[in-house]
Amino acid sequence: MAEPIILCENLVKIYKIQDVEVLALQGLELTVQRGELMGIVGASGSGKSTLMNVLGGLVRPSAGTAIVDGHDLLKLSDAQINKYRREKVGFVWQQGARNLIPYLNALENVEMPMTLAGVHGRRTRQHAAELLEMVQLSHRRYHKLGQMSGGEQQRVAIAVALANNPRILLADEPTGELDSATALTIYEAFQTLNRELGLTILIVSHDPTIARHVQRVMQIRDGKAASETVRRRRRPDTAMEAATEVDSDHHEDHFEELVVLDSVGRLQLPKQYREALNLHGRARMELVDDHLIVRPVPPEDLHQLPPELLHQAEEAEEKGDGRLQQWLHKIRRKKVIE
Ligand SMILES: Nc1ncnc2c1ncn2[C@@H]1O[C@H](COP(=O)(O)OP(=O)(O)OP(=O)(O)O)[C@@H](O)[C@H]1O
Ligand SMILES: [Mg+2]
Repeated sequence: MAEPIILCENLVKIYKIQDVEVLALQGLELTVQRGELMGIVGASGSGKSTLMNVLGGLVRPSAGTAIVDGHDLLKLSDAQINKYRREKVGFVWQQGARNLIPYLNALENVEMPMTLAGVHGRRTRQHAAELLEMVQLSHRRYHKLGQMSGGEQQRVAIAVALANNPRILLADEPTGELDSATALTIYEAFQTLNRELGLTILIVSHDPTIARHVQRVMQIRDGKAASETVRRRRRPDTAMEAATEVDSDHHEDHFEELVVLDSVGRLQLPKQYREALNLHGRARMELVDDHLIVRPVPPEDLHQLPPELLHQAEEAEEKGDGRLQQWLHKIRRKKVIE
């Protein structure tokens, strides 16, 4: 496989405020291939913005590995990281207007970062016009901020973020302040840019529907990648269906949630499974053909039971229906009674 554009291994970020340390990223693993369009979700405080800020060179990681487009973010000097931030990444924030100058029109706003980078002339105007076209705003190019809707402002902000041709676009809750219909226009803009420019795009979101608009979604929990949802296109059922497929958007999408293994093979079992099987402390793992089975370990005292009771308890365990708990309860009571 080609070299990934983003590689984070065991990434740690600790914020220190006076004597208090906050562990915002706790050994995060993330691999992103060039040209991916991916979402990042997770509860408030789980470390999403911290990850974006680290990848964007705004915040220095504390430990681990973070390599972006060949740049080792833990090793760059201050001057190198400033250059990296200017040239390699584009940012889009929740408040699109944060990157925009209100008294300039859309076209001038997109030209501004090029001018600041020392690029002048007709090419800047042409490039700005192309970017505005890609975000479907050609008709608004001479409008100033106050003359545009929130969604349009956000799309200008996306064009501004791309003015200097970054390799990666990082968007932190870009649809956070928009209604769902407007959010859709933002996702469409990201999809177009991803498709036409081959741009790698990471979108942080609280929007539960994000999986429909990107190729995969990583869920962060407590500063770590917990699971991933990938979208799979439903295969056409018949050759006829395949042959008559015109618009691929009419495929039914299928979403699959996957657990994430870190570089040494650790994975997190989802809470609902742990609770359903009463898994804690230790579990039994067994390799069967092409898959693994994880089972709860019966508590110690079960092994001291008469064989027929043990057999029944194991049967209950195998069903995984919570009866083991009841069994244990009964068995313990029995022991006491005996
Ligand atoms: N500059 C900072 N200084 C100290 N602690 C910080 C700083 N930024 C974030 N944190 C802490 O790090 C943790 C992760 O914060 P982060 O902003 O990355 O979360 P988030 O997932 O983006 O949350 P939200 O969905 O609310 O935006 C939190 O506990 C937060 O309080
Ligand atoms: Mg955040």
